[in-house]
Amino acid sequence: MDTRHPRVMPEKAATGGLAARKLIGTAALFCCIALLHIQASAQAILEGERFNPVTASQGMVVTSHTLATQVALDVLKDGGNAMDAAVTAGFALAVTQPRSGNIGGGGFMLFSPGNGEPVEAIDYREKAPRRATETMFQDEQGNVVQNRSRFTHKAAGVPGTVAGFALALERHGTLSLKQALAPAIRLASEGFIVPERFTEGLEQARDRLTRWPATLDTFYKEDGSAWQPGERFKQPDLARTLKRIADHGIKDFYQGETAKLIVDEMQRNDGLITLEDLASYQPAIRQPIHGTYRGYEVYSMSPPSSGGTHIVQILNILEGYPMAELGHNSAASIHRMAETMKLAYADRATYLGDTDFVEVPLNGLTSKEYAASLREKIDLETARPSSDIQAGDPAGFESPETTHFSIVDRWGNAVSNTYTINFSYGSGITVAGAGFLLNNEMDDFSAKPGVPNAYGLIGGEANKIEPEKRMLSSMSPTIVRRDGRNYLVTGSPGGSRIITTTLQVLLNVIDHGMNIQSAVSVPRIHHQWLPDEIRIEQGISADTISLLETMGHDVVQKSSMGAIQSILIEDNGKLTGGADPRRSTSSAMGF
Ligand code: DON
Repeated sequence: MDTRHPRVMPEKAATGGLAARKLIGTAALFCCIALLHIQASAQAILEGERFNPVTASQGMVVTSHTLATQVALDVLKDGGNAMDAAVTAGFALAVTQPRSGNIGGGGFMLFSPGNGEPVEAIDYREKAPRRATETMFQDEQGNVVQNRSRFTHKAAGVPGTVAGFALALERHGTLSLKQALAPAIRLASEGFIVPERFTEGLEQARDRLTRWPATLDTFYKEDGSAWQPGERFKQPDLARTLKRIADHGIKDFYQGETAKLIVDEMQRNDGLITLEDLASYQPAIRQPIHGTYRGYEVYSMSPPSSGGTHIVQILNILEGYPMAELGHNSAASIHRMAETMKLAYADRATYLGDTDFVEVPLNGLTSKEYAASLREKIDLETARPSSDIQAGDPAGFESPETTHFSIVDRWGNAVSNTYTINFSYGSGITVAGAGFLLNNEMDDFSAKPGVPNAYGLIGGEANKIEPEKRMLSSMSPTIVRRDGRNYLVTGSPGGSRIITTTLQVLLNVIDHGMNIQSAVSVPRIHHQWLPDEIRIEQGISADTISLLETMGHDVVQKSSMGAIQSILIEDNGKLTGGADPRRSTSSAMGF
């Protein structure tokens, strides 16, 4: 795919080697073998790709769990479309990956029809309960009580996933809700074989999960140990909940037996969600954020997510730099990216919130003119301290989890979906008798102006808590079109790093000509204004780091960022899938 580099002809090299063997002695033979080696490795370098995507022609599914990928692929093979497969995968992940797959949380979905009709965004983000108040996570002295917004029943927003999936299916699918739920019900009732990552997750979160009796009963064995790799894990309560939804529709979740179980759970534990909150929950159809980058059409999530706005804003600024020429992950590229990211995250803190409640200057933030004015502020040699932009005092990072999947069908329709319960296992609280975990998404509101949330993100007035408001998100399901056709389908978990993770896959494909698996796999960087540091993954060279430090950057290497699941549709219609190796259960499958 990379046409900028001439290829070495391997046949010629091989012929030369055989001729030489006949004519010359042993020493010459060694020389020749060495030459072959050099030519072979030159070829690898010139071809430039160390990672190979999965390829297919009729349909592709990329999710963070093999079992979800498999059931969604089966739907596509049976003639279902991308939305049928997406909703099936979403419900399956709620069973197989309880740390992030969910029915107790919410998220965002982009649907882009294969025939070039407009892209639609479905917002099924959680909402603050009606009894929520602006200062509910502060004590009498006005100090933020972090535990309250993260690990109590008050941390839960009104869940949107079930209503969102039902709406998405109704608008764009061909399956009934019952059909889309069937594989999930089977996986919950018959159980599935636990992969290593499942056990690891439960062990890591043991302390905060096992203090809730229903969570202990649901996710741990009778003796309190976690289910081990290779063992079959069943979820009878969750199977019954999913079956009720299949039989009675979303009414069960928002007004029926499941709603009652959620409200009972709240009442026993000082939580805020009422039957009224549940009954009035509605997902929303939104206009996606739209921008362009070097001629490609970029669609991503609009508020209440900040993702699309800042991806487009950052791309607009970077468009003024020769990113391809500067090179992937060179100090010059990283410097420009970091300086741009700082400006975008500072804007996020001030302007972004739920547009049903506050005005957000979306046109301004995503305009090329505004980008040009910001670009002028960037010094190409020196890092600008974040404190010059605005001050803050962010907290450390909580172990996070969200999940994204991308799907394309034989008609070229594309679904990009990111959903979450916020942290790994959300609030850690399981609805007793219903078998699913509740989100702790209320922590994504600004508990108090200037006080960072779990991802170090700062907010103010625009993202303050208000009844029935949606908390600001970074989730960025994204679809890129080229010549009016779907080209790239992508998105990631990662809290505040979602925006920059998604951005870098776009840059890797568009600027650096990488195939989709390389674009997903190569090391990433991140800057979010506060803390004032470039966070990098393993794999950025020591001399690059040193150059960045000379420019005034603080560079810190931390654990990997995001788990971006992506599909690229080539000109000839070939589908290539790149699952993120940062999750051992990620998988891309096509047919
Ligand atoms: O909506 C948000 O931006 C966060 N609640 C997402 C959390 C997340 O991505 C955690 N995953 N890694």
